[in-house]
Amino acid sequence: MKTYSIALIPGDGIGPNVTAAAWTVLETVAKHSGFTLRGTEFPWSCRFVKETGRMMPEDGIETLRRFDAILLGAVGWPAEVPDSVSLHGLLLPIRKAFVQYANIRPHRLLPGVKGPLRAESFDILCIRENTEGEYSGAGGRVHQGTLDEVAVETSIFTRAGVERILRFGFEQARARRGKLASVTKSNAQKYSMVFWDEITRKLAAEYPDVAVTSYHVDGLAARMIMAPESLDVVVASNLFGDILTDIGAAIQGGLGYAASANINPDRSAPSMFEPVHGSAPDIAHLGIANPIATIWSGAMMLDHLGEKDAAGRVMKAIEATTAQGIGTAPGKDSTEAITAAVVAALT
Ligand code: NAD
Ligand code: IPM
Ligand code: MN
Repeated sequence: MKTYSIALIPGDGIGPNVTAAAWTVLETVAKHSGFTLRGTEFPWSCRFVKETGRMMPEDGIETLRRFDAILLGAVGWPAEVPDSVSLHGLLLPIRKAFVQYANIRPHRLLPGVKGPLRAESFDILCIRENTEGEYSGAGGRVHQGTLDEVAVETSIFTRAGVERILRFGFEQARARRGKLASVTKSNAQKYSMVFWDEITRKLAAEYPDVAVTSYHVDGLAARMIMAPESLDVVVASNLFGDILTDIGAAIQGGLGYAASANINPDRSAPSMFEPVHGSAPDIAHLGIANPIATIWSGAMMLDHLGEKDAAGRVMKAIEATTAQGIGTAPGKDSTEAITAAVVAALT
């Protein structure tokens, strides 16, 4: 029987609840589909950093490299550990070290879920650059604590990095409805964003079957709300993609529905699957975190592993659950009840 080894990093806050929910669903579908998932849990989190001084052990990346995929809940407990420590000690280094340059985030309404918009027929696939740009980590502070203090943080856009994410976007558009929105702010940022636009135009010549439009990020943000049905694939830099995908989550009805896959398209290292949302400290102990975003991310993991049929079954079970009115609004049903309904829909 085919076995996949999965590294589980539940993390902080609601992370452990939604990871456990997704794992229950994934193990169920594996049983029905004739493969095995072998999960290994790592307690790397804000509690771990308080106990050990590190978010993950020194050889954490090498440990994870042996797995077929990583399923992560959420990281961050800002009341105890600064986000600049927790995220730079775990999530962001994994994305970079494993060259997970394509962050795929689908946005569409599940049946029975009422989003805040009039338009209900949208189906957007956001492709976010995930290893460089505004998140490159190049910068520093000088004269710290004095009136002369200076803080610099430089975005880095490389030809290789921009070209590969745009190419990924063109390929996704070709496989879907043939429309690509390339997002920049080249009216204000005249080096990096003009560079991005130029590479978009260059690649467009190779994809005559894809209709590509360049948008400024402010206009695209408005379009996601006013005319989301006009969008197909959206490709954006790291920070712009981060912000746009919280808008994407919002128009889906909330962060509890937005799934995400950090993909290494070359398969030279494991890919990582996680919801768009964070650790949600405000609801962490209430048992009402919506696990659907993480379960959907788990379906994306199965798809990436080649278990397409099982991935499709999980998506159908999620849709059957919300169609029955379960998990259709934030806080309406418990994590446990939503998970049980998805599992029941699988069987
Ligand atoms: P958040 O996504 O954790 O929460 C934003 C709002 O959405 C909150 O009101 C929360 O209750 C709600 N929400 C989020 N997920 C939900 C779910 N599954 N079901 C129901 N409601 C849900 O964002 P935040 O509050 O800005 O961040 C909290 C912490 O998480 C911070 O430390 C932040 O840095 C971190 N964070 C981590 C990740 C990640 O690990 N990938 C992503 C985003 C934020
Ligand atoms: C996300 C999150 C992360 C990001 C944070 C926690 C660093 O917001 O995955 O969307 O900005 O990438
Ligand atoms: Mn985000």
